[in-house]
Amino acid sequence: MNIVVLVSGGGTNLQAIIDAINNNTIRDTKIIEVVSNNQNAYALVRAKENNIPAKCISPREFDTRDDFNSALVEEMDRLSPDLIVLAGFLVNIPAEMVKKYPNKIINIHPSLIPSFCGKGYYGLKVHEGALARGVKITGATVHFVDEGTDTGPIILQKAVEVQPDDTPEVLQRRVMEEAEWVILPKAIDMIAHGDV
Ligand code: GRF
Repeated sequence: MNIVVLVSGGGTNLQAIIDAINNNTIRDTKIIEVVSNNQNAYALVRAKENNIPAKCISPREFDTRDDFNSALVEEMDRLSPDLIVLAGFLVNIPAEMVKKYPNKIINIHPSLIPSFCGKGYYGLKVHEGALARGVKITGATVHFVDEGTDTGPIILQKAVEVQPDDTPEVLQRRVMEEAEWVILPKAIDMIAHGDV
């Protein structure tokens, strides 16, 4: 199964996928390209370090968002992946891309959807919301991407305990280590083997 991974930041989820392919936790799968909207994303460095083709397609390079959207869709059509993985990708996916790749785009969200998701809930804001609400359990969710924000069918979830003295940063790290980096590779392997 050929996958494209879309990233915006540090790329720890991308790294988890790379490591899982290398240790055969993810079978029969190849990352054919990493695409970032942010040219400074460390995720691009991780791709290059692992000899994976990587490129930046940034909204800043285009006069309009529509032009950016078209460029992103054209790149996907050029690669024609079996699966597109959003791994910390912070740009809205063009509706055209969702239509062209039904149930072929998955996203990792750092909460137990439907809690702390949707507009405005990304990165640390998700964990700030969980701590502000005082939940005892949070976690991560892998879901198919539909035209909404964090609204597509849920594939996997994994719970993580919130500790009393957690800061948003500490909680984010625990959710990444104990949940995101586990269920994203697992979901990819399941899809590669028709188990979803
Ligand atoms: C993190 O907030 C993670 O929870 C979410 O995207 C952000 C960056 O992840 N999925 P990564 O380190 O770039 O994979």
